Amino acid sequence: MPRSVLVTGGGTGIGRAIAHRFAEQGDDVVITGRRPEPLERAAALTGARALTCDHTDPEALARLAGALPERIDVLVNNAGGNTDLDGGAGEDLPSYAAAFRANLDANLLTAVLTTRALDGLLAPGGAVVHIGSIAAAQAAGSYGAAKAALAAWNLEAADALGPRDITANVVAPGYTTGTEFFRDRLAEDRRRWLVEATSLGRPGSPEDIAAAVEFLASPGARHITGQVLNVNGGAYKTR
Ligand SMILES: NC(=O)c1ccc[n+]([C@@H]2O[C@H](COP(=O)([O-])OP(=O)(O)OC[C@H]3O[C@@H](n4cnc5c(N)ncnc54)[C@H](OP(=O)(O)O)[C@@H]3O)[C@@H](O)[C@H]2O)c1
Repeated sequence: MPRSVLVTGGGTGIGRAIAHRFAEQGDDVVITGRRPEPLERAAALTGARALTCDHTDPEALARLAGALPERIDVLVNNAGGNTDLDGGAGEDLPSYAAAFRANLDANLLTAVLTTRALDGLLAPGGAVVHIGSIAAAQAAGSYGAAKAALAAWNLEAADALGPRDITANVVAPGYTTGTEFFRDRLAEDRRRWLVEATSLGRPGSPEDIAAAVEFLASPGARHITGQVLNVNGGAYKTR
């Protein structure tokens, strides 16, 4: 039976690859984002249904919940990105606070509010997967702090959803190409450093991340919850 899958931020990059992967398997996929154009292009490419939504906005999330199918088997909280790349903070405290909050909104609140807004739709036997980041384990400012907080909050999500046989995990990518994340502003020496930091000598692809998400939503992962799965080519190692 096809599963019902929601991929937030599914119009570009990693989210689009995740949507593609589930749609290829015959699942019914909905993708969301704020800009209609990339969403429409991704919908045409993947066969997913596109709905515009700003996942930081509680009212937009309530509208989204009303437009979705009655059951969601897989929720992928992928929407996010480093808002500092859209214009950093000024020197003064108010603008520093605004910039810090922007990253918390974009990367923590998007996932927290979406999971909360759709709670009644999440189906037993299902899976929630958040897209975190290697930045959660690095000195990476408000972006890293937001992704670390997402992983911390996921511990509570796993406990809350577990009794309904719903898993909750984080996939934490390292440097991943083929997305709009860096806004075409990644300097060549920084790019080389990011690749050299991996054990495998290459950046990740959106498909690498999609494969990990697919696994966590698969029957083989039903006893995995409350975890962070790092997909970074060995750039950050754990034991
Ligand atoms: N690429 C990397 O190296 C890398 C590494 C680690 C983690 N990540 C994480 O991977 C996830 C996907 O990023 P990506 O690399 O694929 O970059 P991307 O191409 O910029 O994708 C981010 C997507 O999220 C959507 N989005 C952002 N804020 C949103 C909001 N408030 N409401 C709805 N949609 C929103 C964007 O669409 P709109 O702008 O149209 O809303 C966009 O489609 C992010 O959470 C990012 O932090 C990426």
